[in-house]
Amino acid sequence: MFKLKPLLFCCFTMAASTALAKSDSVDINIDVQQPGAVLNKNIYGQFMEHLGRGIYEGIWVGEDSDIPNQDGFRLDVLQALRELKVPLLRWPGGCFADEYHWRDGIGPRDERPRTVNSNWGGVIEDNAFGTHEFFAFAELLGAETYVNGNLGTGSPREMVEWLHYMTSDADTTIVRERKKNGREKPFKVDYFAVGNESWGCGGNMTPDYYADLYKQYSAFLKAPEDNMPKFIASGGTDDQTEWTRTLAEKVKPSWSLRMDAISHHYYTIPTSDWEVKGSATGFPEEEWFSALHRTLRIEDFIEENIAILDELDPEKKIGFYVDEWGTWYDVDEGTNPGFLYQQNTLRDAVIAGLNIHVFNRYAERVQMTNIAQMVNVLQAMILTDKEKMVLTPTYYAFKMHIPFQDATYLPVSIDNTPEYNHGDASIPAISASAAKAKDGNVYLSLVNTQLEGEVDVTLDEVKQVQGQVLSSEKMDEHNTFEQPENITPKAYSVSVKNGKAVVTVPAKSLMVLNLGQL
Ligand code: AHR
Repeated sequence: MFKLKPLLFCCFTMAASTALAKSDSVDINIDVQQPGAVLNKNIYGQFMEHLGRGIYEGIWVGEDSDIPNQDGFRLDVLQALRELKVPLLRWPGGCFADEYHWRDGIGPRDERPRTVNSNWGGVIEDNAFGTHEFFAFAELLGAETYVNGNLGTGSPREMVEWLHYMTSDADTTIVRERKKNGREKPFKVDYFAVGNESWGCGGNMTPDYYADLYKQYSAFLKAPEDNMPKFIASGGTDDQTEWTRTLAEKVKPSWSLRMDAISHHYYTIPTSDWEVKGSATGFPEEEWFSALHRTLRIEDFIEENIAILDELDPEKKIGFYVDEWGTWYDVDEGTNPGFLYQQNTLRDAVIAGLNIHVFNRYAERVQMTNIAQMVNVLQAMILTDKEKMVLTPTYYAFKMHIPFQDATYLPVSIDNTPEYNHGDASIPAISASAAKAKDGNVYLSLVNTQLEGEVDVTLDEVKQVQGQVLSSEKMDEHNTFEQPENITPKAYSVSVKNGKAVVTVPAKSLMVLNLGQL
């Protein structure tokens, strides 16, 4: 007998109202019956480069510093990052990676060479933070590791020997050297990339030339089977697709040629003009809107690249990673232009939420992303000023999404979402993403992109509605060293009556709600 399956959709009805616009009503359906891919925890990965105060001061202060530290790593930052449950760290760059010679960063610190960081401010790099310090830091955080190799100014031999130094247990001279430097066991390298932005700072290459070099280098990159990293090829940026196509056509993974992923970069620049990018604070509505509008374009770019992979790699052996993303503004006044130091506001938290929603939707291929960068650089989690530290709205956005790490994606459909219009352009007023977490609860992440107009969300058939909301009256609300708690997430809950609850999503906000076991 034909029987209708019970619809296990969880239905939500929203009514948006603004002072200016009439109320809209929105339905959100979470399809708990059609779980998608696991959201690899490394979608929430972080990038740390030898750039400005990103590592030196931001993470590493040295054992002799007055700033309280553990083995040279500042304790306040370490503690904050532990609470963030950082799943993955990418190091040493970025553009820096293609000038980094790993041998400069091993052995007694006072004997390490002094070099110039020619990409970022031309400052002296004393190499105090090197391979051993990176892995010690990752181990303190319990994070996986992603090492970016030097294709630009290195050689196959240099790259091969670095991987051997890190991963091997054989009784070779190089492994003996690692042991002499204090590390008996091999380090765990989870990911290894061959070059960075090879279309630009990594060597101004064509995709064809890079693909050939990738094949050459990777033929020699060996590691023990039980400590084999995933190998990553440097891909394109923005709306480029030719890097993905060329790599997928020319590099056919085999036993001697590994390419586990191609990595794309996408930065959000409010004005789209690299000369005058827009300010991190004190910006007009125009730039609130344009930043959100531009950030959402990443979805088209991911979709276009994944379509190419679906055509050329139907078995889905090759991942599509985004190992650099985030906002990029004009540097804060009075700071070194080469240090990329910018404040971080509610706008950044909303942008983080929007990007996370996109990445979750494509999690089958997008198994890793790294926000740029973790401390003191671009869209940072944490800002420091010597001994002072402050947590940014982006930090809280990531913290609110911890339950999404390794959760199972649940499709969300939003009908009749109101549009946020500005000038000739518009974006959806509401963005959402849902997942079933490892604790069995369903979590819903919501963003209201509008500067005005809260949205009432009616939830049906829920067990509970408990979570957090990040919002403020001011669109550029931010924390400072003097006032570190101007903006922090606030607890949010509503009572559930007969399975029904009404949630009010404030204007310019990010919410993450635990809806219980559905
Ligand atoms: O994150 C800053 C820089 O942006 C990186 O070094 C580079 O890869 C990109 O251009």
